[in-house]
Amino acid sequence: MTDVIDKPDTANPISTRKHGDVLIVLSNNPPVNALGAAVRQGLVAAIEQAEADDSVNAVVIACEGQTFFAGADITEFGKPPVMPWLPEVVDRIEACSKPVVAAIHGTALGGGLEVALGCHYRVALPSAKLGTPEVKLGLLPGAGGTQRLPRVAGVRKALEMCATGNPIGAKEGFDCGLIDRLIEDDLIPHAVGYAEEVRDVRPLPKSSERQYKINECDPAVFEEFRKENARKFRGFEAPDANIRAVEFACKKPYSEGVIEERKLFMELMSGTQSRAQQYFFFAERKAAKIENLPEGTQPRPVQKVGVIGAGTMGGGISMNFLSASIPVTIFEMNQEALDRGTGVMRKNYEATAAKGRMTPDQVEKAMGLLTPTLDFEALADCDLIIEAVFEQMDVKKDIFTRLDKTVKQGAILASNTSYLNIDEIAAVTSRPQDVVGMHFFSPANVMKLLEVVRGAKTAPDVLVTVMGLSKKIRKVAVVAGVCHGFIGNRMLMPRQVEATKLLLEGATPEQVDRVHVEFGMPMGPFQMADLAGVDIGWHRDPNRIENIRDALCAIDRWGQKKGAGFYDYDEKRRPTPSPVVQQIIEDFAKKQGVERRVITDDEIVERTLYTMVNEGAKILEEGMAQRASDTDVVWVYGYGWPVYRGGPMFWADTVGLQNIVDGLKRQEERMGGDFSFSKLLLDKAAAGEKFTK
Ligand code: 3HC
Repeated sequence: MTDVIDKPDTANPISTRKHGDVLIVLSNNPPVNALGAAVRQGLVAAIEQAEADDSVNAVVIACEGQTFFAGADITEFGKPPVMPWLPEVVDRIEACSKPVVAAIHGTALGGGLEVALGCHYRVALPSAKLGTPEVKLGLLPGAGGTQRLPRVAGVRKALEMCATGNPIGAKEGFDCGLIDRLIEDDLIPHAVGYAEEVRDVRPLPKSSERQYKINECDPAVFEEFRKENARKFRGFEAPDANIRAVEFACKKPYSEGVIEERKLFMELMSGTQSRAQQYFFFAERKAAKIENLPEGTQPRPVQKVGVIGAGTMGGGISMNFLSASIPVTIFEMNQEALDRGTGVMRKNYEATAAKGRMTPDQVEKAMGLLTPTLDFEALADCDLIIEAVFEQMDVKKDIFTRLDKTVKQGAILASNTSYLNIDEIAAVTSRPQDVVGMHFFSPANVMKLLEVVRGAKTAPDVLVTVMGLSKKIRKVAVVAGVCHGFIGNRMLMPRQVEATKLLLEGATPEQVDRVHVEFGMPMGPFQMADLAGVDIGWHRDPNRIENIRDALCAIDRWGQKKGAGFYDYDEKRRPTPSPVVQQIIEDFAKKQGVERRVITDDEIVERTLYTMVNEGAKILEEGMAQRASDTDVVWVYGYGWPVYRGGPMFWADTVGLQNIVDGLKRQEERMGGDFSFSKLLLDKAAAGEKFTK
């Protein structure tokens, strides 16, 4: 049968065509078929068309391009609403007197899944993903999703999906009743076939009217779920609002549940957290865009990666590429270190498999792509070589000199240095244009952040290649300029300096850490030092004691690994305050003539967090970051800055830049010679401007 095309209007993202008595409604709104105003209007018009046409007996809603509707159009948030609202669109679809089938490919997310839930049936490709990621934007599904989803997929599943925002696969969707049929290929023809099968079934199955999964729900499930996830949700407003909305679905009739859902949605929408999280959504995507590149710059092909050093960093870095099916040659100086490194990688993969996140076959496939070697020449034909050895300039220079002599022309030479000058490293080679920094964060196979350090001579196509590759290995990459510590570690430094001074002046490690944890950080500066190792960067001379760290290291208090650091640890690594440390701090204060006093929590915020903002502003004014939002991405993904505060620069905007300046002025004298104001911060505060848009 030939399709009859009714409305091939390219200006309208929704078109319809008829296949027999089935009306196919197609959305074409690239890149992700977001449900903007024109799409919403088109969908309602298409349903009206189906109602009005006696020759139509069923409807299929599908999308062109890479995905089914990926949600409401986030760019419309905060702007005056344009009718019809999404909840009305979904209600209109559900109220259609003829069966409506959603044909899902790609990702049916947020409002997209709500549209699918408004349909009477859902069919999907097995590769499709279904989710309600609104919580990641500080929101909840606001078009009936919190009320329909538990009715269709079950309460527990709805709770997991809404409160975590993690999508499920179509197969899991089929198992829980969210998907009615999995379709192997040719989605739309099969969806039409399905519509023909169900065309005469009455009454129409409406998600909002289903009751049995709600009725059989154990009321204890909500408290259990809250308890299970308490740590994950700490500080966030949206997860609990999602839980409460699903709870309403179980306690109230649908018509009242959607009113409660709307109330909660509006509360979240007007809060700072959702503004921060929406800002961050776009910040993350903006980070991938590199300024000042010649148009049409093409990436270099990368078929094979070399990694120098099989330590914790080198191993973790390698795993990223292996997991993305890119072969890796890993070089070490001796067999023992090589075996230890590859052994750790295998163990990490096996641990992932034990958690069910990989199959044993996938473990073998990944490890099968690894070539361990003691022969430096084996790196010669790699397209990208990443050096991950000891953080010492001479060692790095030596390696880059050897690389220059060994590897093929056109290969990218990268260093994983976290502080050192990339230009100095590049200068020892005859090809500085091929040299770039790739600063991974530990554990490198887990942490999402990658700082890409652009040297003075780094070629545009090298930058484009590395940024593109980072997406392939599922990292969020941010471009940084060459400066000590780049973006992340450079901002960390003033925080460390002030946190240590505060100890001498009267704060305890517990107080400083508590302030940071209450702020939303996963841990405070001293907990972090204990975890990473107090001895990192220590000169290893127990007789040379110049600061609190030296004193701790000298008596073997190297952190968690030794059972003692800034805190004492029991066998389960639970920390308690240490009287020994307190004494060391007091002795130091006395020796240095520091007068001890009561330190307020506000002072800790001003001296450790406001100083970070000041450093972030310096990084911006020196052009070491492309945009303020890039620094925010670094801190959220690299150091666990709470995303509901957007990142240091966004947070500073919410505090008010003049308030930040005033706070720093209050503390300026105490901070001494280490501190100086960023001109950009002062200028912006004086002009009443913000860092972020
Ligand atoms: N609205 C507007 N723009 C969106 C968008 C949305 N919902 N989702 C993605 N985009 C834009 C991105 O900003 C990006 O724009 P750019 O090219 O100018 O940077 C472009 O689409 C492509 O996005 P990605 O780079 O993220 O593409 P990927 O292929 O990597 O990922 C995706 C695709 C999985 C769909 C991912 O974009 C995504 O997760 N989108 C957000 C989904 C979401 O949060 N939906 C819920 C929205 S809120 C809602 O529906 C409220 C309702 O309940 C009332």
